[in-house]
Amino acid sequence: MVILKQTKDIQNFIAQQKAAGKRIGFIPTMGALHSGHISLVNKCVADNMLSVCSIFLNPTQFNDKKDLEKYPVSTEKDIELLLRAGCDVLFLPSAAEVYPGGSDLATTFDFGYLETVLEGATRPGHFKGVGQVVARLLDIVKPHTLYLGQKDYQQCMVIKELVHQLGNSSPVVTICPTTREADGLAMSSRNRRLTTPQRALAGIIYQCLVSIQAKQDNGNFDIVKKECEELLTAKGFVTEYVALANANDLTLLQQYTPDTPTVALIAARIGDIRLIDNILL
Ligand code: PAJ
Repeated sequence: MVILKQTKDIQNFIAQQKAAGKRIGFIPTMGALHSGHISLVNKCVADNMLSVCSIFLNPTQFNDKKDLEKYPVSTEKDIELLLRAGCDVLFLPSAAEVYPGGSDLATTFDFGYLETVLEGATRPGHFKGVGQVVARLLDIVKPHTLYLGQKDYQQCMVIKELVHQLGNSSPVVTICPTTREADGLAMSSRNRRLTTPQRALAGIIYQCLVSIQAKQDNGNFDIVKKECEELLTAKGFVTEYVALANANDLTLLQQYTPDTPTVALIAARIGDIRLIDNILL
């Protein structure tokens, strides 16, 4: 695996590889890699002649600076995991390489409704930061295909919209399924910060999603939602949202709506750790 830290070096490298006819697949990450990330790398390696992963802990998407400070960093272990997965290139830039002209969010993309709802409502500016960094990384790597995880459902929608706004030369977006622990907990870099007792309880989020899915034919979502909120509270979580939304545009649904593609989404905090997950109904 080639590890490149300078923008000009990766640009030159990619240009050579493209000139040799290689198709480029790209997996952007913030590091602290786990099997969820590696599932994206595996898919990318299987599909493409050149797989490029980036690790960049993007400061502009953290509306809560404490969350950024506490974000786990494990670059040596990440490199090991990428090597084992057969990744070809790791782009490991500094903030100065990613944002040579500064990182003012005011001049970035507008995702309209998508950045105001759910994650956008609780994390103002977050998706502007995601859009800003992904646009910059796409401009540097210029991949044919971009690999994202369904774990961050709303982020997938925002990045699809970004790719749409970027137009012609933008990549195909491939969404990969959420990788889970044995108890259903969606893998996340933030899980490393859970204490043993918190970790033992965290599978409840997925259990709630499964029950929302299971009750869609005969259930009343008001009641199911209340049951989920009570369960989460009983396990020590503070619920931010338990929601149903149209899977295509994220319009919120107050009730189960047969014939509408639907996604159920949960965000909940335990201690100072915020976890999100979703399931398609
Ligand atoms: P990060 O949280 O490191 O995630 C990188 C990619 O891995 C994202 O596409 C995410 O959805 C995917 N991923 C994370 N956990 C997963 C799981 N359990 N199963 C499947 N895929 C999973 O998301 C970001 O970084 C950043 O916002 C980024 C897009 C890199 C921009 O900075």
